[in-house]
Amino acid sequence: MTDTPKQPDTDAASAPPPPAPKDRRRLPPPGVEFPKTIKSFVKRAGRTTTGQAKAFEVYGARYVLPYTGAPLDRVAAFGAEAAARPLILEIGFGMGDATAHIAELMPATNFLGCEVHEPGVGALLKHIGERGLTNIRILQHDAVEVIDHMLPEQGLDGVHIFFPDPWHKTKHHKRRLLQSPLVAKLAARLKPGGYLHCATDWEPYAQQMLQVLGAEPLLKNSADGYAPKPDYRPLTKFEKRGLRLGHGVWDLVFTRI
Ligand SMILES: C[S@@+](CC[C@H](N)C(=O)[O-])C[C@H]1O[C@@H](n2cnc3c(N)ncnc32)[C@H](O)[C@@H]1O
Repeated sequence: MTDTPKQPDTDAASAPPPPAPKDRRRLPPPGVEFPKTIKSFVKRAGRTTTGQAKAFEVYGARYVLPYTGAPLDRVAAFGAEAAARPLILEIGFGMGDATAHIAELMPATNFLGCEVHEPGVGALLKHIGERGLTNIRILQHDAVEVIDHMLPEQGLDGVHIFFPDPWHKTKHHKRRLLQSPLVAKLAARLKPGGYLHCATDWEPYAQQMLQVLGAEPLLKNSADGYAPKPDYRPLTKFEKRGLRLGHGVWDLVFTRI
């Protein structure tokens, strides 16, 4: 599935036409760097299964939103009756197990999940169909661009980032999502009282998160250091195995001042 608008062809012999209104909408707002500053993912190989492909066919049109680069129209996305409900952004939902679990627990909350991994999007659509969930919408697009171009300030009630790619090697640390520029953007997009919940099983990244979130002036730690795991976040299969082997998992929950 492709969701990136085609760039108009340029021809050196003729002056380019003035941008159409829809092209102007895709320019970044003042103060936003473009192109994006963090490339936090590589598109993983992985086959979309027949079940996931079928879920795309049946549910894709309703639940996968196009990346427009324009502020999210919540009425168009969730319907007039549900548009005013609290909105939680999830970055990198993977195969969507936690997303579906939490959305089922909280039917009066809307969830917007960003994920670039196509089989993952198919897997979440499958959950949506099997569980009859109506409160999830998906953007199969780089979350950094979604945050920059589609999410206005003070529009979110929460942000979930569960097990973001740890980028273990020092030379790759620049690809980590949880760095101060992105954290500042997320904090600005939370409503006062909204929360940012991160979890990781990589201790050095947990320490970095604690430091970066703690240094963001708009955020306040809800705990003294790491937080107890909130009940709504399910244990993943991988996490259960890790815990049996004595590996740690660290949750961090910060609230917007
Ligand atoms: C390590 S996986 C964790 C998945 C899931 N949250 C879990 O707990 O199992 C990280 C996921 O984040 C996605 N991801 C990383 N950067 C992203 C970005 N900028 N926008 C959207 N998805 C991203 C990757 O494709 C990957 O599926």
